[in-house]
Amino acid sequence: MKIAVVGTGYVGLVTGTCFAEVGIDVTCIDIDQKKIDNLRHGILPIYEPGLEEMVSRNVEAGRLHFSTNLGEAIKDCDVAFIAVGTPPGEDGSADLKYVLAVARGIGENMNSYGVIVTKSTVPVGTAAKVRRELEQALGKRGVQIDFDVASNPEFLKEGAAIDDFLKPDRIVVGVSSERAEEVMRKLYKPFLLNGHPIIFMDIPSAEMTKYAANSMLATKISFMNDIANLCEIMGADVNMVRKGIGSDARIGTKFIYPGIGYGGSCFPKDVKALIKTAAENGYDMQVLKAVESVNDAQKEVLFNKVRKHFGGDLKGKKLALWGLSFKPKTDDMREAPSLVIIEKLLAEGCTVSAYDPVAMPEARHTLHDTITYAKDQYDAVIDADALLVVTEWPEFRAPNFEVVARLMKNKVVFDGRNIYEATEMEQAGFAYHCIGIRTHHQEPA
Ligand code: UDX
Repeated sequence: MKIAVVGTGYVGLVTGTCFAEVGIDVTCIDIDQKKIDNLRHGILPIYEPGLEEMVSRNVEAGRLHFSTNLGEAIKDCDVAFIAVGTPPGEDGSADLKYVLAVARGIGENMNSYGVIVTKSTVPVGTAAKVRRELEQALGKRGVQIDFDVASNPEFLKEGAAIDDFLKPDRIVVGVSSERAEEVMRKLYKPFLLNGHPIIFMDIPSAEMTKYAANSMLATKISFMNDIANLCEIMGADVNMVRKGIGSDARIGTKFIYPGIGYGGSCFPKDVKALIKTAAENGYDMQVLKAVESVNDAQKEVLFNKVRKHFGGDLKGKKLALWGLSFKPKTDDMREAPSLVIIEKLLAEGCTVSAYDPVAMPEARHTLHDTITYAKDQYDAVIDADALLVVTEWPEFRAPNFEVVARLMKNKVVFDGRNIYEATEMEQAGFAYHCIGIRTHHQEPA
């Protein structure tokens, strides 16, 4: 089979590379010449464990190509994926201009039957708009070429995207013809050998599935953050509560970890977009509105604890931050809680010294020189009045606290991810604060 993947962002690059990995001929297309030149030389625009090596391997094998020429790449393709960005517009709705421009480009160049698949997260009804663009472009050319549209949402977690693609929990495909279903089943066959299910459905349901999945996960997190805050007030331990409820199979153990709010490229954007779509259609998404406002507040929880600890006066304090990215194993800074925390600390007259194993170059684009970038996690804590753990990178889980204690000015730790044991920290002489547990140094939130 021959496929094209338009858009070499996170989703497009992982999708194209993983299809090449199982032997399919893939061309990844982007309008950004520099990005394509870099990719041809094995330089990736994102950090994703294992991806760089997989790209090189498949380029060398001649199965993975990079091009800026959509017209050429689309010829004789069985399937074309649209994986370009859908940035949120001013009002929170997904901006479809890139998706529709690609659809037009495909219509202007395709020469045989193909399935045009939306892979970007797009509102219900987008595939129908893609179909109209294609029909118009073909109409202008005065040619009659059969095509189908399909919706195939991705469920990739940053940092684990390759595994998620190669061993999916499920593949969801929205189609409106048997022919399209057949093509998509054939394309995904290599990933189904281990019994991973492929679920075919109508197109609007597939489009909705993606939003519903992300919104449900965001809901779990905000719910748990709310419970954590209440645990603190009531003197309960959220870790115990989490274990207690997680062992009920109907609730499950995953995605119920409290913290400092969800971030990233998907949850905040998709929750907003679903609220907006509903409103446009006269429906009020009450639960999701609360999910969003709990999350906004949660991003400030760690800062509020710091402020309270220092009696409301942070002027001149030096704060160390461990972690900048919105979660471990990625350099993605989009909607990262660290940005909210840093902005608030700087506004109070603090200085910030941060260390992140991967995300510092990316963070510099937004934060510039407003903070100091430490050379390692111990360098970050030198003379610090407090340490804030913002991202739970593995190397922060068991640091040498004797060294940390020696280097810091004050032995105070604010753990936004609950990765340390309160009793151990207190025995080591630290004033320890975390989320959803009333420690000895922590008054109720
Ligand atoms: C998410 C979805 O998991 C994925 O299926 C979808 O396609 C894209 O969005 P991703 O954004 O990479 O993936 O991150 P994920 O691992 O889901 O974490 C999202 C956020 O939730 C992070 O900020 C994380 O710190 C937070 N989180 C996650 C919690 O606060 N608690 C949890 O228990 C789990």
